[in-house]
Amino acid sequence: MEEGSTTATATTVLRVAAISGSLRRGSANTGLIRAAAEICRESIPGLQIDHVDISDLPLLNTDLEVDGGFPPAVEAFREKVRGADCFLFASPEYNYSISGPLKNALDWGSRPPNCWADRAAAILSASGGSGGNRSQYHIRQVGVFLDIHFINKPEVFTKAHQPPKKFDDDGNLIDPETKEQLMKMLLSLQAFALRLQGKPANSQQGN
Ligand SMILES: Cc1cc2nc3c(=O)[nH]c(=O)nc-3n(C[C@H](O)[C@H](O)[C@H](O)COP(=O)(O)O)c2cc1C
Repeated sequence: MEEGSTTATATTVLRVAAISGSLRRGSANTGLIRAAAEICRESIPGLQIDHVDISDLPLLNTDLEVDGGFPPAVEAFREKVRGADCFLFASPEYNYSISGPLKNALDWGSRPPNCWADRAAAILSASGGSGGNRSQYHIRQVGVFLDIHFINKPEVFTKAHQPPKKFDDDGNLIDPETKEQLMKMLLSLQAFALRLQGKPANSQQGN
């Protein structure tokens, strides 16, 4: 984490590791992460979204750990998780639960020493008819053991395939109401992450 300087007040810059639970090219969830990054760039000083791609991670197999080391893709992933101030998970619900790719990433990051602990997190889901609510509560359950601290509200459940049209064919978010919900969630994440780090609230947020 770094301290950015402004003329009037110092703005603490928080780095958000954002992970999409969908590997699909036109993924709506990855689209939510792109939209969140744009909102932060344009409207939330002090919050920087870094999309952490998990598509290169092998399936978890502890035989791949040699002398306490991990395969290169896993090492690189764990480094990015360790370096983040907080997390944003954007994931579809698959069969009432967490997507396999996201669970795999959570598990690799959990191998000792656990890389997730003591950071704030928020969850988004673009899914079918449920909007992904069941998967979000399963992510929270896993996060309990990993010592991740989730914001409670606002909850954002996006019914990706119901009108009004929310994503274009490339998975880009085009729905103003969902953008508004994203903005509120990001501000809540920022405030909670700063609190958890014992830092003062940023005075310029939301400008
Ligand atoms: C294997 C599978 C299981 C799914 N199960 C659910 C489900 O339980 N609840 C739901 O709301 N949507 C479910 N869906 C729909 C996806 O969540 C939805 O298509 C979502 O937009 C996919 O995310 P993406 O666009 O980021 O790839 C399922 C899709 C797949 C492929």
